[in-house]
Amino acid sequence: MVSIIKKYNSLFFLLLISSCATNSQKEEVVITDKEITWSKHIAPVVFKNCTPCHRPGESGPFNLLNYADAVKKAKLIKFVTQTGYMPPWPADANYSHFIGEKVLSKTEIELLKLWVDNNCLRGDSLTEPQAPVFYTGSYFGKPDLVIKAQKPYAIKGNGTDAFLIMKFPYEIEKDTLIDFVEFVPGQRKLIHHVNGHLISYDSNRAFNYMSGESIHEDTKAQLMDVYTQMHIPYSDNLQPQFPTLTPNVVYYLPGYIPPAYPKEIGGYKLKKNGAFLLNNIHYGPSNKNLLDSSYINVFYRKSKIERPVTETQLGTFGISKIEPEFIIPPNEIKTFHTQTTLSQSISMLSVNPHMHLIGKTFWAFAVKQNGDTIPIIKINKWDFRWQYYYTFKHPLKLEKGSTIFVYGTFDNTKSNPNNPFSPPQSITQGNGVESMKTTEEMFQFIFTYLPYKEGDENIDLERKTP
Ligand code: HEC
Repeated sequence: MVSIIKKYNSLFFLLLISSCATNSQKEEVVITDKEITWSKHIAPVVFKNCTPCHRPGESGPFNLLNYADAVKKAKLIKFVTQTGYMPPWPADANYSHFIGEKVLSKTEIELLKLWVDNNCLRGDSLTEPQAPVFYTGSYFGKPDLVIKAQKPYAIKGNGTDAFLIMKFPYEIEKDTLIDFVEFVPGQRKLIHHVNGHLISYDSNRAFNYMSGESIHEDTKAQLMDVYTQMHIPYSDNLQPQFPTLTPNVVYYLPGYIPPAYPKEIGGYKLKKNGAFLLNNIHYGPSNKNLLDSSYINVFYRKSKIERPVTETQLGTFGISKIEPEFIIPPNEIKTFHTQTTLSQSISMLSVNPHMHLIGKTFWAFAVKQNGDTIPIIKINKWDFRWQYYYTFKHPLKLEKGSTIFVYGTFDNTKSNPNNPFSPPQSITQGNGVESMKTTEEMFQFIFTYLPYKEGDENIDLERKTP
C-alpha cells in the first residue's frame, strides 16, 4: 500500500510504503521523481488497472502489455488518469465499495504523471514485471452449454451506434438447473453493453420460438410487435400469451465478469425450451462493415436452488413512483427522486443505477427506522458508457422498515456535451422499444437481493480468480 502524505517540493515525493508483506507497519520512504521507473512503480499499476481491458481481444482500443506500449501512449495515459476518465469506474470509492473495483489512488495518479513528465524512465529491464496471463473466451472455463445466435449480426460501417434486440433460442434435453450465464462478445471493441432476459416455455403449450426474426433493429416499433415478429409469445390461443420471463439473467459491459455466488446462493431453472432475449445490445460506432458472432455460455448447477436471487426495480418501469413527474424541460438541471420502504429484511447483493445520456449524478442510500443512514452508491459524474452492475464485497443488510432513497440529477442544458439535442428539447421516457433509445431518458435503480439470513453480512462475494 502506498500513499502520499506530503509533496514538499516539485522534486521530492514523500511516500508511505509498507515495508514487507508480513509486516503491516508503514515506513516512510522518500523518492525523487527522477527515481520513478516503469519496472519499479508504473508496471504494477498498469498491469493491475489497465491491462485487463487493454490487451488483445479486449475492449481497450490499444494494448498496454509492456514498456514500449506504455511509452507510445504516455501523454494520453497521463491525461486520462489525471481527468479520472480511466480506469472507468463511475462509483465513488469514498462512499461504498464493490467487487472488481478499479480506482487509482492519488499517489498512483501522481506517480503516472511524474513518470510521464520525466521521460518515462524504464529502470531495470531484467527484473521488470511481465503482464499477467489472462483468460480468453470464458472466464470460468468450459461451459456446459454454448448458445450461438441463429445468424451473425452484420455491423454497418456507418460510424453510428446501433441498438438491437436479439434472440438466442435453444432447446435442451430436459429442464436443468443453471448457476449463471456468461455473454462472450465477438467484436469486443464494439460491443458496449448487453442486457437480456431468460424466456421459458411450458412444455404443455404450443410455441414456435425457433423461427421468426432473430435480430430486430427498428427502435421505433412497439415492443409487443417486435416480440410477435420474433415468435416469442405462445402460438396457441391460450392465456397467458407470453411465456415466463426472468429479467436480467444476461449482462455484459467491457471488463465485467458475472458474479459467482457461494453455493447456497443463486441459480435459475433452465427449461427444456427457451431463449435468451437480449433486449438491449449496444454496438459502438464502426467505420468498417463487420460480422459479430457473440455467444452465450451456460454453466449448469450441481446442487439444488436454496436461495434464489430476486431483482427489484425502482423508478422507470419499476415498483416506485418518480417524483416530481419525470419530464426534464430544456435548459434545466433537474433532480428527481424515488423511494421504497422494505417490508422484510434483505441482503442486497448488486445494484445497477440506470440513466441515459443526460444523466449527471446518481445517489442511493437507505435510512433505518432509527434514523441511521446506510450508504449504497454514489455516482458523482454519470457516464452513459459505463453502467456497471456493482456487486458488494459482502451482502449489505437492510432491515425491515428501512427506506431506500434514490436521487438522480439530469442536465438538459446546452453546456452538457452529451445532450443529444441542440437546441435542448423537453426529454421524458419513451414507450416500448423507444424506451431503450438513448435520446429518451430513464431513471432506474435496479437491485438484486435475498431475504436476509443471520450471518449474510460475512459472506464473501469477491470473485476468486480461476
Ligand atoms: C474496463 C475496461 C478498461 C479499463 C480497466 C481501462 N480502460 Fe482504457 N479504455 C477502455 C475502452 C473501452 C476505451 C475506448 C474508449 C471508451 O470506450 O470510452 C479506452 C480508452 C482509453 C484511452 C484512449 C482515450 C482516448 O480518448 O483516445 C486511454 C489513453 C486509456 N484507455 C488508458 C487507460 C489506462 C491508463 C488505464 C488504467 C489506468 C485504462 N485505460 C483502464 C477500457 C478500459
